[in-house]
Amino acid sequence: MRFFIDTANIEEIREANDLGILDGVTTNPSLVVKEGVKFEDRIKEITEIVSGSVSAEVIGLTYDEMVKEGLELAKIAPNVTVKLPMTTEGLKAAKTFSEKGIKTNVTLIFSANQALLAARAGATYVSPFLGRLDDIGQDGLQLVEEIAEIFAIHNIETQIIAASIRHPQHVTQAALRGAHIATIPFNVIQQLTKHPLTDAGIEKFLADWNKSK
Ligand code: E4P
Repeated sequence: MRFFIDTANIEEIREANDLGILDGVTTNPSLVVKEGVKFEDRIKEITEIVSGSVSAEVIGLTYDEMVKEGLELAKIAPNVTVKLPMTTEGLKAAKTFSEKGIKTNVTLIFSANQALLAARAGATYVSPFLGRLDDIGQDGLQLVEEIAEIFAIHNIETQIIAASIRHPQHVTQAALRGAHIATIPFNVIQQLTKHPLTDAGIEKFLADWNKSK
């Protein structure tokens, strides 16, 4: 499973990239607004740091608006992936972008059928939102498992991005259940690196080493 970071914050992206584990970035309108910067400029900046897929989300809700915005976003850099909402208009736009060879990430996926439709429309990625399903008492990880199984049965090449990740167990379980990618907030990436026994182990090794001197 590959790692994307789910943020529009440049420092977080740089730090995660320096770890050598980063395969891409996802952003969304809420994350960009938080940064208080011009959307297109920030996407450009991110593509200059990370060579993998950088998802930039359209704001328009109609097919025409999505295609117009998406074409502009795709011009920013070759690694821009146009992020589209899972709606009928979004599906039509995904089809158009797929015909043009532009990568898409169909977002806000909350059912296996939505994922199947997005894949059929030619989406490069689908993003099931685990955390938001868990928030309403449903099982986000089960959705990832269902999508992965269906895609495997039907040899569907669309990749699953486990999104709306809230904690390290989401990451482990997304990997076990067949997600190709997890897009993870920076604080959770930091948590993934840590284990109390690792810290205790380092402390003990150093203490023993120093005692011998
Ligand atoms: C994915 O592409 C989204 O940006 C993101 O994972 C949403 O997560 P949230 O539910 O924590 O806002």
